[in-house]
Amino acid sequence: MSPKPRVAMVSSEMYPFAKSGGLGDVLGALPPALARQGVEVSVFLPAYKSLLQKGGFAPLNGDLPDAFGAPEVRYTVFKGRFDGAQVYAVRSGDLFDREGFYGDDGGEYPDNALRFSRFCRGVLSALGQMGSPPEILHCHDWQSALVPALLKTRLGGSPAWARTASVMTIHNLGYQGRYASDDFQHTGLPPEAFGIDGVEYYGDLNLLKGGIVCAEVVSTVSESYAQEIQTAEQGNGLEGVIASRAGDLLGIMNGVDYAVWDPAKDPCLAASYSREDMEGKAACRRALRTEMGLKGGGRGGPLCVMVSRLASQKGVELLMATLEDLLWMGLEVAVLGTGEVAYETSLRRAAERHHKQMAFRGLFNERLAHLFFAGGDLLLMPSRYEPAGLNQLYAMRYGTLPLVRTVGGLASSVIAHKEIDLERDTGFQFQGFNPAELLWGVVRACRAFEDKEAWRRLVWNAMSQDFSWDRIVPRYLELYEGALARRAARG
Ligand code: ADP
Ligand code: GLC
Repeated sequence: MSPKPRVAMVSSEMYPFAKSGGLGDVLGALPPALARQGVEVSVFLPAYKSLLQKGGFAPLNGDLPDAFGAPEVRYTVFKGRFDGAQVYAVRSGDLFDREGFYGDDGGEYPDNALRFSRFCRGVLSALGQMGSPPEILHCHDWQSALVPALLKTRLGGSPAWARTASVMTIHNLGYQGRYASDDFQHTGLPPEAFGIDGVEYYGDLNLLKGGIVCAEVVSTVSESYAQEIQTAEQGNGLEGVIASRAGDLLGIMNGVDYAVWDPAKDPCLAASYSREDMEGKAACRRALRTEMGLKGGGRGGPLCVMVSRLASQKGVELLMATLEDLLWMGLEVAVLGTGEVAYETSLRRAAERHHKQMAFRGLFNERLAHLFFAGGDLLLMPSRYEPAGLNQLYAMRYGTLPLVRTVGGLASSVIAHKEIDLERDTGFQFQGFNPAELLWGVVRACRAFEDKEAWRRLVWNAMSQDFSWDRIVPRYLELYEGALARRAARG
């Protein structure tokens, strides 16, 4: 076997330093899993104010110049470490010295094109001056998508970078980093890159498109999503670009970091439990109901939970449209989520109206998320689209059965048959994006819940699933080999 390549990941999130969703979880788990299998791996993040405040990062000596011809631009690199991976945080002026990662209550920061262009330029500038560059530059989502474009157009010709291949992983095609053409000036790309084979998209700058076009290989976070994004329905306008790279595209389903997500050793929980000894789960359920102030649900149905970014992707409107019915059925519903103000407002109002049966916490809170997965019976995940989804994987390990729409990674990771199969099923599914199907899914789950033995077996199946990253790493190593072979062929 060929020696394992040195890998540098570039990302805007990494648990525990910076997380707003699943991207953070993936970066907190995949690099350590690669390191466990002998890969030398580093991660580059923006030096967010909150990240530096957490401590553990020390500045490397001196300011670094920009490698893309802007003498006034300087970078400071901070070094830390996490679970076998070297972590670097890149600062450029005060661009990341803010409360949010991408925005605040006023919406997205208006200078995000500049912020993340600088981040990518800073990463490559730093790598060029930190010894010999890595063989693999693994970039995640639009925030780091300028890296493959800069590598190909500006650095690829230099001997130092001749053996470096880039990998572009799409976690969510709903966010592309699309900006007015004026913002092209921040990228450091040569003028000809603003064209159909580069970052130009209907006259705008589209950073993710540039990454998809320029990377040696492209991946996404489930096999089904790799297919879906080649269609007009899910391609968000980039289906043609993606289909043109179909031969270089791979879907690899996300995994779970069971060191963080395991009810047997989860410090957030009121009681620990495992597949073999489920007593603690009842205590967690009681703790969640007490903490949420739930006092309804007298009819003994499953406690329904949802942990989610409140975005149209997540099917919040389906939940809203069925909520009255669920409550009328006597169910209790608890939602943890932040995001679009309109969703937060309607959830908050519903919780005020039905406070005994419905609770809403408009917070991003790691501890509460663990409590929800442990204390619930049924996780609702009615996503409009879902590249992979991690929540359904966490819920399964916590013995909370997921009810998911059959889309993206949800379709492949939750096993459900029309007639419940007690030997194999791990949750429930529905297909159409409409309230009636979601409601019907809940009704079926309620029926299963009434049969305690059946439910116990389904929970056993769900908790027995193994989505550990260690099993996924070989697929990424294959992806890297493919990238290196293409790079070598390009010369
Ligand atoms: P996405 O990345 O699209 O948001 P995933 O299911 O892949 O969806 O991952 C979501 C991650 O974010 C999980 O770790 C989940 O627990 C976490 N999460 C989402 N909303 C919240 C919240 N309000 N508080 C704490 N964690 C949250
Ligand atoms: C995205 C997707 C989610 C996926 C996560 C990590 O945010 O919406 O489905 O699990 O990235 O890859």
